[in-house]
Amino acid sequence: MADYINLSSFAWLSLFLINISYRQSLFCLARCFVRRLNCRQKDECCCDEPSMQTTFNDIPSSRAFVSCSWTCSNNSQCLAFNFNQNSKLCQMFHKKSLKCFQRKDDCFHMSLKGKSDRQFNIRADDKIVSLYFDGVPQKELPNWDAPLVYNSHSLPYDVQVVAVHATNSIKEKYIEAFSDDGAIASNTTWKCSTTSPALDSNNNNWYDVHYDDASWSAAMVQESHSFLAKSIKFWSEGNKEAYCRTRICG
Ligand SMILES: *[C@@H]1O[C@H](CO)[C@@H](O)[C@H](O)[C@H]1NC(C)=O
Ligand SMILES: *[C@@H]1O[C@H](CO)[C@@H](O)[C@H](O)[C@H]1NC(C)=O
Repeated sequence: MADYINLSSFAWLSLFLINISYRQSLFCLARCFVRRLNCRQKDECCCDEPSMQTTFNDIPSSRAFVSCSWTCSNNSQCLAFNFNQNSKLCQMFHKKSLKCFQRKDDCFHMSLKGKSDRQFNIRADDKIVSLYFDGVPQKELPNWDAPLVYNSHSLPYDVQVVAVHATNSIKEKYIEAFSDDGAIASNTTWKCSTTSPALDSNNNNWYDVHYDDASWSAAMVQESHSFLAKSIKFWSEGNKEAYCRTRICG
């Protein structure tokens, strides 16, 4: 009869919390899973071949979701899963780098916390002064002032705006950036200002998601041939300062 996973009392306890927690972005049983949202804050499901799959018939969808989470949580190889709410199909993934993601009705994707971000690589000549993801300042990395070295930051998939301030003192000047999944590359769709901009009419800072950058210029190409991910080297119109931002969703 009951062909679903025999849950521990801890997992059953969490069922009482399910209605408030399972539509949120973080869900924890024995391990914590983060929901995959794209930069439009919409669910995306993995369309790679799953490593394992099972359907939890005859139980409500919310309980099927817990069973699916539990099955993945209790399998050390499982790094992520899709849960299809209508069919209650649970698809588990053991591979680290999943390639294909797309919107699919009634399906969402959860992956182990800390294993679910894209890698965003950036370098600047002379140096990066500050870096923001959706207005949140990122911790300085040791090579922010080393023009030849890329700094790799974890960038969640739901981030909409990346903003960077870099400075230059002499000669060569550039910012170059790309993400491992190809979603972000430094190019002339980025916008730059030569000075630290004032607040906009809605009191947004230049690095905030909703900052109005309509008056900013397109980034200026410094060097257009690149070997990496179609990224180019750009700078602002000025010489010393570059305040630049890109909207990932366009
Ligand atoms: C968790 O996995 C272990 C070993 O694979 C298994 O013996 C145990 O029954 C599983 N527990 C649950 C609740 O699925
Ligand atoms: C800029 O990069 C983004 C992300 O890779 C890409 O989608 C876009 O087409 C590029 N635009 C230009 C003008 O190169």
